[in-house]
Amino acid sequence: MGFKQDFVWGAATASYQIEGAAYEGGKGLSNWDVFCKQPGNIYENHNGDVACDHYHHLAEDVALMKELGIKAYRFSFSWPRLMPQGTGTVNPDGIRFYQTLIDELLQNGITPYATLFHWDYPYALQKRGGWLNPASPQWFAEYTETIIGLFGNKIKHFFTFNEPQCFIGLAFTGREMAPKLQVTRRDILQMAHNVLLAHGKAVQLLRAGVPGCKIGYAPTGSTYIPASNSAQDIEAARKATFTVDVNGDWPMGISWWSDPIFFGEYPAEAAQAFGDDMPAIGPNDMKIISQPLDFYGHNIYNSTPVKMGENGQPVVQAFKPGHPRTAVNWPITPEGLYWAPKFLHQRYKLPVIITENGLSCHDVVSLDGKVHDPNRIDFTQRYLQQLQRAAQDGVEVDGYFHWSLMDNFEWAKGYSERFGLIYVDFETQKRTPKDSFYWYASIINSNGSLL
Ligand code: BGC
Repeated sequence: MGFKQDFVWGAATASYQIEGAAYEGGKGLSNWDVFCKQPGNIYENHNGDVACDHYHHLAEDVALMKELGIKAYRFSFSWPRLMPQGTGTVNPDGIRFYQTLIDELLQNGITPYATLFHWDYPYALQKRGGWLNPASPQWFAEYTETIIGLFGNKIKHFFTFNEPQCFIGLAFTGREMAPKLQVTRRDILQMAHNVLLAHGKAVQLLRAGVPGCKIGYAPTGSTYIPASNSAQDIEAARKATFTVDVNGDWPMGISWWSDPIFFGEYPAEAAQAFGDDMPAIGPNDMKIISQPLDFYGHNIYNSTPVKMGENGQPVVQAFKPGHPRTAVNWPITPEGLYWAPKFLHQRYKLPVIITENGLSCHDVVSLDGKVHDPNRIDFTQRYLQQLQRAAQDGVEVDGYFHWSLMDNFEWAKGYSERFGLIYVDFETQKRTPKDSFYWYASIINSNGSLL
């Protein structure tokens, strides 16, 4: 017993990180175009102007996906490429680009899993207040309707948002993500509410406009693993995973975002603690927000070990000196792919899809012309073994998307980090599948039995 027969083996990317062609084909400016041009925001002032130039390498990239053998490809639409001003006029070149991508995927037997929004926000809308503007859910609804009208006949799997924890939680507490502003807690709560409303409206529109489609979202949020197998430590890990840390980094947690979506209400204790900072909630808001979804997506890279403290509260445990880490210094914690899906499935009662998982390695092209990345193979094998264990334990796991298909623009870290299964030479745009690419292909081909 392992992964189900129709397990969705995939790989993921995001528009701004790979497309390039930032000023071509009628695309409007995004918040990231502008953010990258402000000195000091990005490692060595890199930007996504060209990135992997996927805009011009689309056919080659889909051919590589086919060689990899992925069943599904998770990509995101660039909102400003489709709607340069965010609302109103739709850009014909943008339509053509995504139409070609979707057709190529389908012709190659790869199912498109489309993310509506992976952080590249139309700059025109940012100037109008972005997610703080009360009209922002409606702008997103218009954008969603546009996508349904254009591509709803060909795409049957959707994610609304990627990681609101980052594009709100990090971006508006002054940390590394565009527009890197520090705003009040009240404003963050209001933006979060608008994002959740936008999500709910999009789900309603997709249900009506794309009959039979499957919908989820792709949050992240800190996950925890028990420091031992004792029942208390397991409980501590679960508790830590779902606690809203009202005096700490609550926007990076899971429950503030997912409880309203799946339970139709904000976590009560936290909402009370936020007091007057809570946004006004309209009579239908929670109903709109809590539209049923088909799976629980989660992006997961690492987890934090905890023990149950004597006061019944989880206590974070330090990693031992020398604990394995990725190139970007994230701790390697494969058991996270066992515990997080288990806790998420138990709480939200939906099949789980790992919408992102992977690591950055400082890969190089060796003298033999190949890219040897044993660390990526080892990491992915360990994580997938734990996901398999979760599936064997009865957790409904529907799929796994490796982050990322190819090396790309890693946000504030620019091109200093490489997350891909495919090496990209950013000077020549030459693609070289890494050893992990061939390894992952063999795992997919065996439906995980070679793990
Ligand atoms: C994001 C990706 C990013 C990856 C690695 C996730 O938070 O969704 O866009 O590249 O992590 O940092």
